[in-house]
Amino acid sequence: MNIILLGAPGAGKGTQAAYVAKRLNLAYIATGDLFRKAVEQGTELGKQAKYYMEEGKLCPDEITIGMLLERLANPDCQTGVVFDGFPRNLNQAEALDKALAQQSQGIDKVVYIKVSEEELLRRLSGRWVCRNCQAPYHITDFPPQIQGRCDKCGGELYQRPDDATPTVKKRLKVYLAATAPLIDYYTRLGKLVEVDGEGKAEKVAKRIIKALGKGDAVS
Ligand code: AP5
Ligand code: MG
Ligand code: ZN
Repeated sequence: MNIILLGAPGAGKGTQAAYVAKRLNLAYIATGDLFRKAVEQGTELGKQAKYYMEEGKLCPDEITIGMLLERLANPDCQTGVVFDGFPRNLNQAEALDKALAQQSQGIDKVVYIKVSEEELLRRLSGRWVCRNCQAPYHITDFPPQIQGRCDKCGGELYQRPDDATPTVKKRLKVYLAATAPLIDYYTRLGKLVEVDGEGKAEKVAKRIIKALGKGDAVS
């Protein structure tokens, strides 16, 4: 099963994707996480991506699609993947369809997580992320057990530079212009399911699992 989580910055893609992947035993690919890791490690890819991320712009398709395909070739992806933050535009969606078709696979469902702009801004302004494993926290909604430390790996928590309000506003504009048209694209293909992304994360998770027709997988 291959699933895409689609939604605006701060919709809860990362929060939910980690849960859904674990629950349904799927691999998890987040292109934003891959880029941040590359920036942190100072690789050539990271050097190329840094400027775009800081500006709140999409990284060029050539490097993004290349990075995605490399990750998708890993053996853990053969039984299915939860995609977070990819595809981000029509060109990327078509590249993904093509790559999966070569493995006689396809996208099964696209979950559109819908959240109001006011709530997106509130979430992003209070987000802290693990520098090591990228797990997201929130200053009031999901505080870590030990301040400044990741519950999962003990890594240091930091605020993403692109979560500063002016950059968030730019990211929202980019989302509306480039990514939101994918809602229509996947609706036409009969693959889109819309889920209310507001309310407690556990509730949203249940809605997603139900929308995927996997209600039985939740104990
Ligand atoms: P990326 O990392 O993908 O960022 P994004 O899409 O803007 O999404 P976010 O990670 O900000 O939000 P999220 O939906 O994951 O929310 P989260 O679960 O953390 O991309 C960053 C940059 O990388 C891009 O701008 C671009 O430059 C580049 N890039 C990445 N992919 C690319 C691609 N395919 N093509 C080109 N460029 C690409 O939740 C947010 C906060 O809310 C957290 O604090 C969380 O704890 C909290 N929260 C979550 N759920 C709830 C809830 N139900 N109630 C209350 N709080 C909640
Ligand atoms: Mg994320
Ligand atoms: Zn961590």
